[in-house]
Amino acid sequence: MDKFIIHGGAKLNGKVKVEGAKNSSLALMPATLLTCGTSVLKNTPKLKDVFTMIGLLETLGVKTAFADHTLTIKIEKLKSQDAPYEYVKKMRASVYVLGPLLAKYGKAKVSMPGGCAWGPRPINLHLEGLKKLGAEIDLEEGYIIAKSKRLIGTEINFEKKSVGATGNLLMAATLARGTTIINNSAMEPEITNLVQFLNKMGAKISGKNTQQLVIEGVDELKPARIDTISDRIEAGTLLVAGAITNGKIELSECNTTHIKSIIQKLEECGCKILVNNDIITLDASDSEIIASDVSTSEYPGFPTDMQAQWIALMSVAKGNSKVTDNIYIDRFNHVPELLRLGASIKMDKNTASISGVKKLKGAKVMSTDLRASASLVLAGLVAKGTTEVLRVYHLDRGYQFIDEKLKNLGANIKRVKGDEY
Ligand code: EPZ
Repeated sequence: MDKFIIHGGAKLNGKVKVEGAKNSSLALMPATLLTCGTSVLKNTPKLKDVFTMIGLLETLGVKTAFADHTLTIKIEKLKSQDAPYEYVKKMRASVYVLGPLLAKYGKAKVSMPGGCAWGPRPINLHLEGLKKLGAEIDLEEGYIIAKSKRLIGTEINFEKKSVGATGNLLMAATLARGTTIINNSAMEPEITNLVQFLNKMGAKISGKNTQQLVIEGVDELKPARIDTISDRIEAGTLLVAGAITNGKIELSECNTTHIKSIIQKLEECGCKILVNNDIITLDASDSEIIASDVSTSEYPGFPTDMQAQWIALMSVAKGNSKVTDNIYIDRFNHVPELLRLGASIKMDKNTASISGVKKLKGAKVMSTDLRASASLVLAGLVAKGTTEVLRVYHLDRGYQFIDEKLKNLGANIKRVKGDEY
């Protein structure tokens, strides 16, 4: 298992490109199961999770080719509609194959996703919605067994917003008979990217960017090409890296409209930010980072996927702050590790109360999940001395060579391969 060795203190400076959005790719790829033929997903990031999804699709009989961030997916005849446990346990997003397989083939067998590092992540909204579309859903030996004749359009009211459930139901409804209305649908940019792709395939979906999606079922969808949007969480993470090191960085190929909530918070902290189309420059070179509270919420609010990174920044900000996660109330595995670096954080349910400290001190810390690991790397960039971040395979799931990117910005960071220590 690889680790990072970081010597803190360098102010980041320079330019970096933002990759395609992990959470778009993980929905766009299974969406191709609704068609036969060859689809092309441009700007696909080279991430561990993307390769896991490729592996899953290939077990179903899909052929793929992946070069220069263009992922080609070719579907002729599937050999199976079974998504095995060994994939789903690695990546919860594997559940995204359920809707398309059910809609296209009338059956699917998908392992129940286990919990994840920060606790249970139910899929009841996915299953209840598919049942409403007429699917028969049984659970057998940890597998979801789904069957249906042609799905029938209906009105679905989500009791809470769910990105995954919205995506799954959206894909399933495209081939249903009649019209489906999804109320209280997620409005994340990744869902909008999925709607764009499905409509390019011939789906009839209206209401994107709103809380109500209307899907008029069609008989068949065709392969299509889509540009994956840029990754707003990678962009936010890199901006926090610039802020926490009092550096000056420029991001390119960034969809700045998707990170308005993050930009607003960084400006509140004293960072100077300039936006020019898909280029964003953050200058914190003469800023003292001032503490600023955050409470996560669904898009367009401050994203839960930036909560851990924000706590790292607040750990060295001037003053006290509170960070509340309203989406995942137990997503705080990074806090005990930040305490090992000398942070001053107290937890009360889903709120972290942080008193900024002058200096963090390097230590060995353990990655537990994707964004928690990002938080530890950010803290290591400023901690005095050496920080070793262990098990960085978590990071590789969602960031394309973040160590290389940070090194190119001037960070003193080195990846040590698992078998080298
Ligand atoms: C997506 O996960 C993202 N993953 C997550 O990003 C992100 O944190 C999350 O949305 C929230 O924005 C992908 O897109 C692959 P949800 P998802 O369904 O779809 C509850 C990252 O770091 N819920 O929107 O699984 C759930 O427990 C990852 O990139 C139910 O109760 O999240 C949570 O409290 C982590 N029942 C809330 O809804 C359900 O059936 C939002 O979850 C589904 C969800």
